[in-house]
Amino acid sequence: MCGIVGYTGAGHAAHILLDGLERLEYRGYDSAGICVSDGEKSHMLKALRVKGRLQALRDATDNGDSVDGESGIGHTRWATHGEPTVENAHPHLSGGGKVAVVHNGIIENYADLRKTLEGRGYVFQSETDTETIAHLLDYYDKGDPIDAIVRTVMHLRGSFALGILFADRPGEVYGIRRDSPLIAATSESGNFIASDVPAILEWTRNVTYLDNMEIVCLKKDGISFYNMDGEKIEKEFTTVSWDIAAAEKGGYAHFMLKEIHEQPKAMADTIHPHVRDGRIVLDELGMTDEEIRAVRRIQMVACGSAWHVCMTAKYVMEQLAGIPVDVDLASEFRYRNPVLEEGTLLMVVSQSGETADSLAALRYGKAQGMLSLAIVNVVGSSIAREADRVFYTAAGPEIAVATTKAYSTQLAACDMLAIHFASVKGKLSEEEYHTLVDALLKLPEQISEILRGEARMQWLAGKYANTRDAFFIGRGLDYASVLEGALKLKEISYIHAEAYAAGELKHGTISLIEKGSMVLAVATQSELLEKEVSNIVEVHARGATLLALTFEGNYNMEDQADFTIYIPKTEDVLYPSLVVIPLQLLAYYVSLSRGIDVDKPRNLAKSVTVE
Ligand code: AGP
Repeated sequence: MCGIVGYTGAGHAAHILLDGLERLEYRGYDSAGICVSDGEKSHMLKALRVKGRLQALRDATDNGDSVDGESGIGHTRWATHGEPTVENAHPHLSGGGKVAVVHNGIIENYADLRKTLEGRGYVFQSETDTETIAHLLDYYDKGDPIDAIVRTVMHLRGSFALGILFADRPGEVYGIRRDSPLIAATSESGNFIASDVPAILEWTRNVTYLDNMEIVCLKKDGISFYNMDGEKIEKEFTTVSWDIAAAEKGGYAHFMLKEIHEQPKAMADTIHPHVRDGRIVLDELGMTDEEIRAVRRIQMVACGSAWHVCMTAKYVMEQLAGIPVDVDLASEFRYRNPVLEEGTLLMVVSQSGETADSLAALRYGKAQGMLSLAIVNVVGSSIAREADRVFYTAAGPEIAVATTKAYSTQLAACDMLAIHFASVKGKLSEEEYHTLVDALLKLPEQISEILRGEARMQWLAGKYANTRDAFFIGRGLDYASVLEGALKLKEISYIHAEAYAAGELKHGTISLIEKGSMVLAVATQSELLEKEVSNIVEVHARGATLLALTFEGNYNMEDQADFTIYIPKTEDVLYPSLVVIPLQLLAYYVSLSRGIDVDKPRNLAKSVTVE
């Protein structure tokens, strides 16, 4: 939701903070700010904040040159409380500049805290929840920063990852987290805290992930950690497996295009480690065959595109393994008092592993005694650490707000789980099993083949970039796929796009179809092709411009469609991994032709760590 970074060391803090924030802008880009301690000179904290993108902060600080100091904190914001203005930009200060804080998360009881603090004489400068934290820290600061932090956070309800400076503690940076991610990292050039790994990769890959209510103190000569009793604790550091290049565009115009093109490798990196001698091996998952046989129902929860993965997985798991699957939006699941039966496996799908609603749904399910399995892309993320079993996708860091490679690797993970569960439950013959595994192994190259047709999708996007509404239709697994296609288009091109089960159109929505309405029909499921054609005829007869997406060889689509996109043939259950590629390209090039910043679409952020 927001990105925070903190640094202390021998370097020029402002330069390091700005570079770190640049790699966190995907988490929010409404406003930005830094606060630097100028060390022993004046024991003062100097804060600079701007509305808008980080570049405005670079411009305001001569790229950091005009801000001296060797320790500081920084923030890039996705606005929650208070509009994106300078006054609401972080860092927030208190006590006449004695304390500064940056915050990722939401303080739910901020209004009560504000009233209490105003009663103690504090004058608020902003509309934010974060400013209450700054004033609480000032109120409890009696010279012991750990004690001030402990006393402050005990009053906070909600989620937070904090970076904190105390003017009378030059060279020191503090942090603490609850339900929002915070890492600490150490290097020869100094020590760091950050919301996510990309912020520090330029300097180090030696990181540790703070657990809830752990406090970190960065000093120039080292990092120390404390629990809520103020006792020192030890934390294990790990080495991040990817380097800074993975968090850069690598010559592509946007991260999204780079990540679309990384899909063959991401799929191969996710699939190959789990296929040995033609068999799917999920040892790292740690689920025994007995545990799998005991699964009588699967409850899947996620948000956004990850929820589309769950919708896809439902069809595949039920078809192959014969296990009933329920799918819920995490934000609904956690509040609808679901009836959870014995033998239900809770599966949470999340790229970031930090989505607040998905994390809360995981905790709810665990509290009900369910065995939990998470499919996550970010190592060490909250969902990965709290789930009983974790299946890591190997997509590598995904920076673009619109997910692509994480989505397709999540599909592959679910496919492997479904095939494996079906095999353990004796639902597949050896021939069926090997046919599926062979087809799975072909997906990376087939995605490469589709990407080689990129120019044709760019041409198509140019033709329809000005459409006002777009309807995506499909049946069965194709319906799950068009859910993602519609979201991709609307979230980065701002075109109103809706996905419909093709058989559902005639129950009302078809009234919206008129001459020139853009309809994209996906037809890959062999048992449903004829039904799909009749739905296509229905809309075409009403003047729709019909784009069809089907597999090579299904040429009769040309009779009905104004334009047909072909993808390589594969097993019916695996088509979603191929269908999504042209849909991603279409969305990307439509967004581009509409002059939109594809990687940072308005109102969005990469990781929604608030409810
Ligand atoms: C998809 O393009 C969006 N970025 C969004 O829907 C995303 O999938 C959703 O917020 C879930 O995020 P997660 O996978 O990190 O939990």
